[in-house]
Amino acid sequence: MAETAKNEEVSDVVPSTAETTAEVEAVLDAPVDRGEPILQVRNLVKHFPLTQGILFKKQIGAVKAVDGVSFDLYKGETLGIVGESGCGKSTVAKLLMTLETATSGEVFYKGQDITKLSGRALKAVRRNIQMVFQDPYTSLNPRMTVGDIIGEPFDIHPEVAPKGDRRKRVQELLDVVGLNPEYINRYPHQFSGGQRQRIGIARGLALNPEVIICDEPVSALDVSVQAQVINLMEKLQNEFELSYVFIAHDLSIVRHISDRVGVMYLGKMAEIGTDSEIYDHPTHPYTQALLSAVPVPDPAAREGRERIILTGDVPSPANPPSGCRFRTRCWKAQDKCAEEVPLLAVPEVFAGKKTLAAHDSACHFAEERDVVHAA
Ligand SMILES: Nc1ncnc2c1ncn2[C@@H]1O[C@H](COP(=O)(O)OP(=O)(O)OP(=O)(O)O)[C@@H](O)[C@H]1O
Ligand code: SF4
Ligand SMILES: [Mg+2]
Repeated sequence: MAETAKNEEVSDVVPSTAETTAEVEAVLDAPVDRGEPILQVRNLVKHFPLTQGILFKKQIGAVKAVDGVSFDLYKGETLGIVGESGCGKSTVAKLLMTLETATSGEVFYKGQDITKLSGRALKAVRRNIQMVFQDPYTSLNPRMTVGDIIGEPFDIHPEVAPKGDRRKRVQELLDVVGLNPEYINRYPHQFSGGQRQRIGIARGLALNPEVIICDEPVSALDVSVQAQVINLMEKLQNEFELSYVFIAHDLSIVRHISDRVGVMYLGKMAEIGTDSEIYDHPTHPYTQALLSAVPVPDPAAREGRERIILTGDVPSPANPPSGCRFRTRCWKAQDKCAEEVPLLAVPEVFAGKKTLAAHDSACHFAEERDVVHAA
């Protein structure tokens, strides 16, 4: 067995029983028609060069921040992306926003590869893909009024700026995000964290985008304020048919808002599926470990749960393990895991089976484990 981090508690984890409830039957029988994807991400790679020397910089390696990530985003859906710090979530967000240049791979927006666009064509696409950032304290310019901050996108895209009263449009946007339109002349420091994030959302909405990339949009907020902002985002999604990529650490929040969830590990997608598939039927050991760490408020539920404590550090993305990147921390790793990169696909053992475990999982030995039912 190759460099495997063993864990005694893991041996207690019991395989889950096959699902037969009417609820699961209904989910499995329901035809899934998500329509055409609005974003198609294919084999996306971002390597940051590692250099040495001051005058004559020599490349000595690369940080493989994102290393072959593929997924689809459908109209009106929320795709959650979770994973430990440094696994490449923000880099994926920046690549989707074309704030970083991809090393290779494609991002199709309505069929057009935006990684190859430049000039006016890129600007036109950018208008439709907006971002909401993590920190409402630093992402708003303290010297600009709220009116100027929300109206700034109109300066960059005059072609879609309101023809008549721009101030009125900004006030409408303030109203849409639940802020008093009379606050238009105030400065960011005159608002609370939650209100500032509403301002960030209003700015994101100004150009009527179709996709909003949210990188940890509520992580800096108090729990009670988090719920308000999440509710607002859900309301706006329904109202404006928005598609969200929602990046966060908090698995409960991600489950609450997401239709589908992707789990990243060290620059790769480990598992992806609907929220029930990922949370109730995870088949990748990394997802199972992440879920087992979610706090369970109900003491009765806590009693029977199994906890997987991952040992070992996350390897450096500059020198990731061969084969499966999770193998150095996986209690199930075998020789094959060091030799072959597992593909993100429905594992053979579940192929054609009527079970929610039959979803994409990049593991040679994928199987269900009844580790925890996250809140
Ligand atoms: N501009 C850069 N130059 C070099 N390395 C970078 C750069 N940006 C990110 N990285 C590295 O790429 C890896 C992924 O970073 P990224 O910010 O995407 O992670 P993340 O999943 O968003 O983490 P967190 O949850 O902490 O926000 C990290 O190892 C990071 O140090
Ligand atoms: S392929 Fe699966 S079993 Fe093997 S190391 Fe990776 S996660 Fe563990
Ligand atoms: Mg990040």
